[in-house]
Amino acid sequence: MTPFKNKILFVGYGAVAECTLPILFKHLAVAPENVTVMDFEDRAEKLKPWIAKGVKWVRDRVTEKNMGSLLGKFVAKGDVVIDLAWNIDACEILDWCHRRGVMYINTSTELWDPYAAGAKQHPTEKTLYWRHMNVRRMMAKWKAKGPTAVLEHGANPGLISHFTKQGLLDIAAASLADKKFKVKDAERIAELARTQAWNHLAQQLGVKVIHCSERDTQISDKPKQVDEFVNTWSIEGFREEGQTTSELGWGTHEKELPAHAHKHKEGPRNQICLARMGMDVWVRTWVPNYTVRGMVVRHGEAFTISDHLTVWEKGKATYRPTVHYAYCPSDAAVASLNEMRGYDYKLNDNQRIMNDDITQGSDILGALIMGHPYKSWWTGSDLSIEESRRLVPHQNATTMQVAISVVAATVWMVQNPEMGVVVPDDLPHEFVLGLAKPYLGTFISTPSDWTPLKHYKNPFPGYNRPEFDVKDPWQFKNFLVKDGE
Ligand SMILES: NC(=O)c1ccc[n+]([C@@H]2O[C@H](COP(=O)([O-])OP(=O)(O)OC[C@H]3O[C@@H](n4cnc5c(N)ncnc54)[C@H](O)[C@@H]3O)[C@@H](O)[C@H]2O)c1
Repeated sequence: MTPFKNKILFVGYGAVAECTLPILFKHLAVAPENVTVMDFEDRAEKLKPWIAKGVKWVRDRVTEKNMGSLLGKFVAKGDVVIDLAWNIDACEILDWCHRRGVMYINTSTELWDPYAAGAKQHPTEKTLYWRHMNVRRMMAKWKAKGPTAVLEHGANPGLISHFTKQGLLDIAAASLADKKFKVKDAERIAELARTQAWNHLAQQLGVKVIHCSERDTQISDKPKQVDEFVNTWSIEGFREEGQTTSELGWGTHEKELPAHAHKHKEGPRNQICLARMGMDVWVRTWVPNYTVRGMVVRHGEAFTISDHLTVWEKGKATYRPTVHYAYCPSDAAVASLNEMRGYDYKLNDNQRIMNDDITQGSDILGALIMGHPYKSWWTGSDLSIEESRRLVPHQNATTMQVAISVVAATVWMVQNPEMGVVVPDDLPHEFVLGLAKPYLGTFISTPSDWTPLKHYKNPFPGYNRPEFDVKDPWQFKNFLVKDGE
């Protein structure tokens, strides 16, 4: 166990934090009295067993006005902030931690008020890409890297970057064993895998598209009521990301932009965004062993994975896969979203995060890596509700995958305290997966002959105009569910 003598502050004690706290104590030797938990809702009852062990509880809210003075009461140089709240401005909290030598971790890059600029703001300015550029601009003004701050290290973003690396290595090993490449190419692939040159390895394997594909099959014995929003994790977090621009890492193999696409003008320009809500952009995808329709909800991994896998030559991006999330949430969440669409996207006040009422199901979450000699390859976690309860009672599979990732990255951070700001792709996948795998249920890494056109049948042949590229199955237009199909 890694020893840690300094203080830890949890900001937010919701679904993910509740699962994170007990696992953190299993992997970090920290005295309970050095851990403080803060939330503006009353969490004293839920924290009772931990308070009895010495954990400190504070009911308060981090706001734009009080952030520095409030955090300063609980953490100083060498301490850690674990931010599992929502809508705390990432630049401001990062800068505060940087200046005071405090380590920091979060699971998403947020703003004080993501709705403040209103509907008229240009779609590119609403994006996570824009937020990442702001973080980069701020960091460029710092004189030193400073204390480690791990951005966006949950399940996805987070583990998904490590699943992608593991998947690339597994495709390389299998294709060498199966002699899928000519001798010269095989030698290069072996060398790129050995040196973990991820971008060149992905290029050499022929990878065109990577989905973070997820199907949540957890169901409850308490059906969703009329006028109730039910989910397996933060409802506010889901609403915020679902109702804004869809975002994609945009591959160099793509021939045509989808409708309503916008490009960025600065930075690596590895992404596009759509002037459409992510929750209304549907794509065909696959998890073992289901064909799924998922939503292209914007997520950090679409930015960081596509950025890290880009091959640059003389300032030009010569290779990059298309990367995005394809999310099929629980049945209750799908029904809740549909009810919300009917109410012109107004969120119900009546909300429930499923937990002890879950009767069966799994969260199946992984990297679907496509375009290489096996067509598709899926690497990730199939975690059942039974297994997550065995690991930590009263938790669900969705929060478990996030929590173990937060713990793994926190342990890495205290072992590596002066790395500056990093994203999941910068962390060693062997370390993170080594710690996380015992909590991920069945770890799967498997080929599949799935393509987005594999099961397509035209219901009105000759009477509609399906827009597919049959010559190249990996074009985004083949995944995207459109009119006229
Ligand atoms: N990367 C991933 O895989 C992933 C997955 C799930 C959730 N998340 C993110 O993790 C965060 C937590 O998710 P969750 O499901 O636990 O959400 P949740 O809504 O269950 O819990 C968040 C808690 O934070 C508290 N809170 C919010 N703002 C606060 C503030 N300013 N000060 C103090 N307390 C505050 C809320 O009262 C709530 O108890 C969210 O930002 C969510 O988007 C990331």
